[in-house]
Amino acid sequence: IKEEFIKEMEKSRDKLSLENIRLKYLGKKGELTAILKQMGKLSSEERPLMGKLANEVREEIEKRLEEFAKALKQIELEEKLKSEFIDVTMPVKPRFTGSLHPLSTVTSQMEDTFMSMGFSVVEGPEVDTIENNFDALNAPKYHPSRDMTDTFYLNNDLLLRTQTSTVQIRTMKTQKPPIRMISPGRCFRCDTPDATHSPMFHQLEGLVIDKGITFANLKYTLEEFVRRFFGDDITVKFRPHNFPFTEPSAEVDVLCFKCKGHGCPTCKGEGFIEILGAGMVHPNVLRNCNIDPEIYSGFAFGMGIDRITMMKYEIEDIRYMYENDMRFLKQF
Ligand code: PHE
Repeated sequence: IKEEFIKEMEKSRDKLSLENIRLKYLGKKGELTAILKQMGKLSSEERPLMGKLANEVREEIEKRLEEFAKALKQIELEEKLKSEFIDVTMPVKPRFTGSLHPLSTVTSQMEDTFMSMGFSVVEGPEVDTIENNFDALNAPKYHPSRDMTDTFYLNNDLLLRTQTSTVQIRTMKTQKPPIRMISPGRCFRCDTPDATHSPMFHQLEGLVIDKGITFANLKYTLEEFVRRFFGDDITVKFRPHNFPFTEPSAEVDVLCFKCKGHGCPTCKGEGFIEILGAGMVHPNVLRNCNIDPEIYSGFAFGMGIDRITMMKYEIEDIRYMYENDMRFLKQF
């Protein structure tokens, strides 16, 4: 039996045949088991001898089966490792990863610049009230910006905000001075799209309210922002202007990057590019928000993020930024 077993063992190569062999010899109906079952028929002299022999054979078979099972496991493991081998030195297929939209990049750079100057960032809703967008901002009832042809009205009360100045009003109505905040966000006007106009665009508005704030603070803050954002060698120009919500008001221009003031298509021949509007908050606006203009004063400013992004990346058409054309987006 033992020799037969060893022969069969040498032929078997897998788990299943191993199990079959085990059953053949050691199973309930196995050959060795059959011999042990017949032990009763033997004489008392033969029985211990036969018993000893049978046990030896069984132990031997069990030992070999066990060793063989171990060897099989090892082979299986090696085969598995071989089949799962990964060559980490193989070159990979380049995969396209997304990137930030230029408007997002510029907005967060502006936010970082103002935050480094002590401003906090506040957001407001894109749908707001006529009160917050016009009335509280001291816009006269006949002001052209209120026109149906300029503003998207939703009903008698609500509109798509035409400027982020709405967030100034919301902040002043709910917070006590000192206030030092900016609010970037999307704005909407009924403009026919062309290279420089889009019915949806972005503004970044700023507001500072405290005791004793003057135009000098406004000028310093904006010059400092422009320097930190565009670099030290920038030339800034303040021009008188008019806004309903500020008095006095100004517009701020920077020297054209391209022609350095000589006049080129980028600055439409003017040598300077307008980047923001600003002014001292009108006493009526403060009063509309329950802030006493006898005690507090402040300044506000607003800039078009789209225009500054276009300047920075030399984007010729504002519409490129809203078409989601991969050929455009991949460049950033
Ligand atoms: N909201 C103004 C605009 O849309 C910009 C501005 C903001 C001007 C604050 C002055 C003060 O043109």
